[in-house]
Amino acid sequence: MLHKTPISAAVAAATLTLFTAGCTATGQVQPKATEAPAQVDYTKMKPQELAEYLVFQSGSYDLAQPTQEGTTGKDRLTQDELQKVCSQVARSGKEIDDKTAERINKMAMATIKYPEGGIKLGDWRKGRDIAWSGFGFRTAHNPDDHNRGTPGGNCYNCHQLAADRTGGTIGPSLTGYGKIRGSSPEMLKYAYEVIYNPHAYFACTQMPRSGAKGLLTQQQILDVMAYLFDPASPVNK
Ligand code: HEC
Repeated sequence: MLHKTPISAAVAAATLTLFTAGCTATGQVQPKATEAPAQVDYTKMKPQELAEYLVFQSGSYDLAQPTQEGTTGKDRLTQDELQKVCSQVARSGKEIDDKTAERINKMAMATIKYPEGGIKLGDWRKGRDIAWSGFGFRTAHNPDDHNRGTPGGNCYNCHQLAADRTGGTIGPSLTGYGKIRGSSPEMLKYAYEVIYNPHAYFACTQMPRSGAKGLLTQQQILDVMAYLFDPASPVNK
């Protein structure tokens, strides 16, 4: 069963909006029992209720499906502590307070593991492929099969990277990143940490925890960093 999280509370609320199909006011013929009746009045649902109905109640999402990380679809929907805190902050409609932000930053920083050989830029060509690939941990109808490809970092979906292609705008533009910021050891350490677990700096960011969640290997992070910092990379042209 679902834990007593705000999600299950909202599911309960969504369930209350169920009603039985019957004769319509316009006198249309009642659907036969064999036809799938419209059980739910979507128009009376708030967007969040509808989304939760579709995921948890309608059977459209297979909660038992295996995921690439060896869990199930349902486990993906179970929030960890950081996500719970950030959801509470989002629901409150207020800015996160300094104490909570600091607690999250510390919690995230403690998850970061550094490469044994130190933080050295990898291969920007490999990094470009990783940054521009969304392949990896998609589930549902066509789960990404790791026998058929290496997971990417999905960076392009949120960031503008090199000027030769169009990226997303959820995150800040990273065009010219290395040229603008330089490549001091402190800067490289910061970038490694942000990519590994961005909550170490941005408490309730939307950016994924690529290292901490095992979405990218340490070497892949160093390759992506080369794409951001190497003077020969198109990001800095
Ligand atoms: C879901 C969107 C999303 C994805 C995917 C994403 N990021 Fe981000 N990123 C952000 C946001 C948003 C910020 C700004 C921090 C904040 O305020 O939340 C950010 C910040 C950063 C920063 C710090 C920028 C600075 O000013 O120093 C770097 C570096 C970065 N991202 C690199 C990456 C890389 C590399 C990837 C791919 C491995 C990536 N991001 C994937 C959303 C994303």
